[in-house]
Amino acid sequence: MLEHWGAPGRDQPWTAPDRLHFATLLDLAPLEYAALGTRHTTTSELIVQRPAGHDGINLRLADDSVRVDRDGHSTHLQALLTDPAGDITVTLHVLTSTRHDVVERWAEVSHVDHGGHADPTDAVVLTRVFSAGWNVPVGPGARLHTLVGQWSREFQPVEVELTAGEFSIGSRQGITSHRYSPFVALQTPQARGASDDDAYSVALAWSGSWRMLVDAIPFHSHVRVSGGLDDETGDVKLQPGQRFETPHMLGIWSPHGLTGLSRAWHAYQREVLARDLGPQHRPIVYNSWYATEFNVRVDHQLALAERAARLGAEAFVVDDGWFTGRTSDRSGLGDWHVDDAKFPHGLEELIDGVLGLGMRFGLWVEPEAVNPDSDLYREHPDWVYHAGHRPFTTIRNQYILDFGRPDVERWAADMLTRLLTTYPISYLKWDMNRPVTDGGRPADPHGREWSIQHTRAYLRVMAMLRRDFPHVTVEACAGGGGRIDNAVLAVCDVVWPSDETGPRDRLAIQHGFLSAFTPSVMSSWVTDEPDHINVEPASLEFRFVVAMAGALGIGADLMQWDPARMQHAATLVELYQEIRSTIHRGTVFRHGSPTDDSYAIQYTTDGKVVLLVWARGQCPPSVRIYFADLQPSHRYRLRGSDVVLSGSEASERGVPVPFSIAPDCDVLVFDRIDR
Ligand code: DGJ
Repeated sequence: MLEHWGAPGRDQPWTAPDRLHFATLLDLAPLEYAALGTRHTTTSELIVQRPAGHDGINLRLADDSVRVDRDGHSTHLQALLTDPAGDITVTLHVLTSTRHDVVERWAEVSHVDHGGHADPTDAVVLTRVFSAGWNVPVGPGARLHTLVGQWSREFQPVEVELTAGEFSIGSRQGITSHRYSPFVALQTPQARGASDDDAYSVALAWSGSWRMLVDAIPFHSHVRVSGGLDDETGDVKLQPGQRFETPHMLGIWSPHGLTGLSRAWHAYQREVLARDLGPQHRPIVYNSWYATEFNVRVDHQLALAERAARLGAEAFVVDDGWFTGRTSDRSGLGDWHVDDAKFPHGLEELIDGVLGLGMRFGLWVEPEAVNPDSDLYREHPDWVYHAGHRPFTTIRNQYILDFGRPDVERWAADMLTRLLTTYPISYLKWDMNRPVTDGGRPADPHGREWSIQHTRAYLRVMAMLRRDFPHVTVEACAGGGGRIDNAVLAVCDVVWPSDETGPRDRLAIQHGFLSAFTPSVMSSWVTDEPDHINVEPASLEFRFVVAMAGALGIGADLMQWDPARMQHAATLVELYQEIRSTIHRGTVFRHGSPTDDSYAIQYTTDGKVVLLVWARGQCPPSVRIYFADLQPSHRYRLRGSDVVLSGSEASERGVPVPFSIAPDCDVLVFDRIDR
């Protein structure tokens, strides 16, 4: 049972009610992990279907079954729960670290084989096997915050008042999804504001189908956040002797409201999940997708590369369209060989050109997908997901490979290894452009575990890339932000949050993204693409400053940029190079929201403060920013001016924004001078 989560003495420990009506005690108690059969009238994290026809188990903590291991910064607690029948055990894991504020939890369910003579008809089915249940002291009437969206409109923050009822979000798509992010933040209805009250956040580290359920039982002081693998599109079968370990679920408490939560997530992702924070794995990328789409030609790519190098790009990435038969999205996917028609002298001609210009070379791949019109599909029609006699489903003219098959996983790992050992590639963008439909393998006893197996195989191949090709920067993408979560962040360097690069729309997407994810992974390109939602005009500088808010890239058609624009853009790239490390390592404070007349993001490190500001309208508005996070006695000089001010002056009097870069945006850099 959870005794307490949060600041000492701030919430009341749970006490059992004097009298029980229409519930058992365990239905009401803040259990760490509940199974149907242990609970009867409230949410359970585990549902075990027994062959005999009755569901549920009765979990008890066995004597002497809690183990605590300390190792350096980490403390790992394991608690063994058993069912009286002795055939099912559940080990709960809780991992904490002094290096960050995340509590990591997961469960391991075993079907014990007492007799040693497993009979397949004895299998139990875990129709729900969530990772953890979190009792959060924010009810009744809790405020729940999460991120929702759709393709090209990801990470929009929403707030929901949970008076009573079950709130459920998830993905049935085999990927994390554009619709919901596996992340919630919770506060009491009395929470005073963004930065100064208790707040809790729970996220799932999983890149496949998932579900999170927030149960607000009427009149209860706690809401329960449960979550894990999606229990609608799959289940787990355990033969006697088999065990299953769930994905990890992560929780954070902060006394500094939603801002404190986002910072705690940033710190965890930066310091724990990322392998390196320097520019090595966050190069300034030029990606030629928007300039060429499928019309890839070596001479054109070389011309773009020459211009990208002039701008200061550090890596040149050829996106979709470089491989055999890929003239549109209707063909070629799966045939990962360089197209001779597009590269008559081999890919080497382009690579040599790019390396000769001082940039790294990168390539786009989509290893999980295949076009029906491809040699791969013609050779292996049995490798794709397909549900029995139902017609095939194509989305973007493609099928999805059953990555959970060991031969498919091996093929993908070998294909990537071949590419990365044949060519000096040091940047790889891994895309996935449709959801999985019709998953399952009718003849396989573990066929309903397809999504789990697919996701594990994907994460394993990504981990192989990191292990065997440490010099290769990996960008994760799924038609924009369809697969972004704390599991993928442990195996990639940057993620592509959206296909929407219209600057005002992008700013709104990035604003939401930053509430759960660190700017150091947020890949963002300057393009010529228009906005689709907020169509107010925006300057070139505005586009640049939006992309500078994370890992800057450029995706515009540089052949259309005149010399003056090229030269000006190069100075903006140079400015980014000066502030990049503060953007990636600094503490983030978002001033307002992109729908306000002016909006700013402040990045603060010990020695430097960077403020990115955007405004609406054409004339320079009058905007004053009241800085956060500064020590009152520290002294700063505004770069490029004689302005010197203290932390307290910047916070209390505020700083007027000169809009010296453009009438609709600015970049202010303050260097600390009192050291
Ligand atoms: C979707 C991605 O998000 C785009 O950046 C681009 O790589 C296309 N796929 C290519 O097919």
